[in-house]
Order: sequence, then C-alpha cells, then structure tokens
Amino acid sequence: MKNVKKAATLDKVVALCKRRGFIYQSADIYGGLNGIYDFGHLGILLKENIRNAWKKSMEQCDAGDILFIEGALLGPKAVWEASGHVSHFHDPMVDCMNCKHRFRADHINLEKACPDCGIKKWTEVKQFNMMFKTELGAVAGSSTEAYLRPETAQAIFTNFKNVMSTNRVKIPFGIAQIGKAFRNEITPKQFLFRMREFEQMEMEWFCKKENADKFFKFWEEARINFFYHIGINPEKLRLRAHGKNELAHYSTKCSDVEYNFPFGWQELEGIAHRGNYDLSQHTKHSGKELAVFDEETKKSYIPDVVECSVGVDRLFLTLLFDSYCQDIIDEEERTVLKFSPMMAPIKAAFLPLTKKQLEQTEKIYKQIKKIENNVMFDVSGSIGKRYRRQDEIGTPLCFTYDFDSDNDKMVTVRDRDTTQQERISIDQIAKYLENKLKS
Ligand code: GAP
Repeated sequence: MKNVKKAATLDKVVALCKRRGFIYQSADIYGGLNGIYDFGHLGILLKENIRNAWKKSMEQCDAGDILFIEGALLGPKAVWEASGHVSHFHDPMVDCMNCKHRFRADHINLEKACPDCGIKKWTEVKQFNMMFKTELGAVAGSSTEAYLRPETAQAIFTNFKNVMSTNRVKIPFGIAQIGKAFRNEITPKQFLFRMREFEQMEMEWFCKKENADKFFKFWEEARINFFYHIGINPEKLRLRAHGKNELAHYSTKCSDVEYNFPFGWQELEGIAHRGNYDLSQHTKHSGKELAVFDEETKKSYIPDVVECSVGVDRLFLTLLFDSYCQDIIDEEERTVLKFSPMMAPIKAAFLPLTKKQLEQTEKIYKQIKKIENNVMFDVSGSIGKRYRRQDEIGTPLCFTYDFDSDNDKMVTVRDRDTTQQERISIDQIAKYLENKLKS
C-alpha cells in the first residue's frame, strides 16, 4: 500500500498533546483558564531540550561573549514607564454589543458582521494595555504598583551595568535570559501560539552604533541557522523584514524568522535593532549613568542593541507541527512525531517482546539509563501497540528483547522513521544510541 502522508492540523496536534501528556489545560477541573497551560512529563522534556539547544547556540556564539541572567518576574511601574510599555504596549480592542464577545480590532473586519453571532453592532475601538498589574504589600498607592513582565528583556537592560562590571566584559557582548513573560492577550488563540503566560528566550547584543547593522545581519543568519540545526524543515522557514508601520515602539529595524504554520506564515522569532532606545530611556528615568567609556576615542557612549527573541512555547508548537506526520505502515495508519533525535523527549524505548523477557530487558534499560537519562521501559500491550505509542511521542529508537536474545545476546532495534529493523549485539546498544543522537 502507498505510504500516504497527512500533515498536521491544529486540532490533531492539540489532541495528541493531551492524549500523550505533553500539555494540559491549566486548572482543567475548574473549567480551565484561556491562554494558560500546564506541561506534563513529556512536555517538560521537550521544553528542556529547546532551552538547552538555545543556550548552547548562545554559549557557542562566534561573535563574542554571552552571559546569562535570571531576572525577577515582577517589576516596579518605573521600569515599564521607562521602557514605554505603560504608554505603548496596547492592542486595539472591540466588543460585539450583541453577543458580548471581545476581539482584537486589527484581527477582524469591522465593516462586516461579528464572526461569532452574525450581527453588526460594534463598540468603539479602545486601546487595551496588555500588562498584568498588581500591588506590592498591604498599602496601596502608586509607589507599590508593580507589573508582571511582558518581556524578559528589561531585566537585561536594568542589569546592564551590573553584568558588565561584575564580569569584566567589553563591548561587543551579549546578555541572555530564559524566563516567563505575561501578556493579557485580548484573544489568546491557536493553542501555544498566543498565550497569556509564556516563556521567552531573549538575548540582547550590546555593540557600538557603527557596528549595529553588521551585527543585525550576523544575528539574522545565526538565528535562522539555529532552526535548521534543530531539524526544522528549511522550506517552512523564512526571514521577513518589517515594514516601517509594523515596527514596535522601540525598534528602528526588525526581521522576523517566520514559520509556515497550518494557519499561515507567522512570527517564530523577532530580531530587532533597538538602537540605544532602552539604555537611554533607563538613564533618563532612573538618573543612573548607563553609558560606557570607549578607551579608543576616550569618550562615553550608550551602546546600541540587537535583540533576538523567541518564545519557548511557540517553538514547542513549531516543532510539533513540523514533526507531525500520519503515514501508512503495514497497511495501518500511524501518527508519528519525526523530531530530530536531539529534540526528541524520549531517546529510546526498551521493550520485552513478552512478559517472559521482562527481567532481562529491564536490566539493559537500567544500564543504559545511567548513560542516557531520557529512556523508557514499556511492557504494557502488544509489541505493535507499543511501537505506535513510541512513534506518537517521537522516540527515535526501540530496542526489543525477544525469544532469541538469551542465546545470541542480541536485540532488535527499530528505527522510528523507516520502521526498518536490524539485530545488534546487546553490548553495542550504548554506542548505537550515541551515534543516533549525534545524527
Ligand atoms: N522583547 C521583544 C519581544 O518581546 P515580541 O515579538 O513581542 O518581542 C518575542 O515577542 C517572541 O516571544 C515572539 O517571536 C514569540 O515567539 C514569543 N511570544 C510573544 N508573544 C507571545 C504569546 N502571547 N504567546 C506565546 N509566545 C509569544
């Protein structure tokens, strides 16, 4: 039978994530919270692989040093006034007066009727600030107002001088951070694509103004190469420069790495030339000098910044869409996540053919687990069912201990993508797995 392949849809990916325990709707038993999710065991493993790959790409950067920080999630109002988020971080919002549903005004056609109830009865368009506001302590007042950060970047700017002086680094260099960000999105949608609580991986590259364009190009190339490196289909990736009317309040130039999602080409990562906007703003608002001294010119200057910013969750969703496939194997349809071995949450599964081989298989599994932690032992159901289960979570290799293994000291290894099987010696398993993970 022909090996018919079917692509991913949003519904299929959401169902798989729930079925296999990658992701759960947060507070599900209370009806859930829109745009907020909890991650299960496999989801955590995949997220960890995403973070590690990104961190490594920063640590191994050719352009210079990149240091890491972990900023606080709450910030005083003063930070967000300086950054421009209090006055500019708005989305246009409109309500349908008939069904009371709320929309982003720039996401629908206001000349037409409401897409939910079919009646055309819109309110005025209002600007809605997307930051979550809170109060610190028991006494309310403007000095205790705080906000959950809508981007991780500001902690990098406010710590710029601390990092530079305590690490004795020189311009150009980068500061990177992985952490949560919060946005009160008017209409969270497309699962992990637009969430209210999400995680960002951001790097701010500090350089002299005259070198900023050169570094902007460097980072455009480096970042798209990163996505190729983690196995994303190059045909589904592109770089798109922003038009002048699309630029965020802080940026003078911006390119998005876009992915061709089932709902169209959309931003995966933003690369922005922020000029010296942020450090200048924080100098002005805090009264603290954030300029650096140039030994060559003997003058002080405020460095320019090139920013690379990608969401962990949006990349998670991209990897799911990109690896998802339904094909026909032995006249039976299967769903498979063809993750690159490096990104696969579980690297290998150890399967006794029947319960009679349980003990011997478990012994091998425990030995391998000492070398590679993310392996699984699976004994329940027929061998065919277990292969399908591993295919669905993207496990690249399955090692099966069968009736002959006691005598010939060999196991069968099955490749997830080709489903081809071969026999290898038990003492070769570790090497075989290591080679696969390098590929
Ligand atoms: N510091 C710059 C900044 O935050 P952004 O384009 O607003 O820029 C950067 O966000 C990245 O963060 C996006 O490319 C996307 O990957 C991720 N992101 C932004 N908003 C998100 C949301 N509501 N849900 C999930 N990921 C989001």
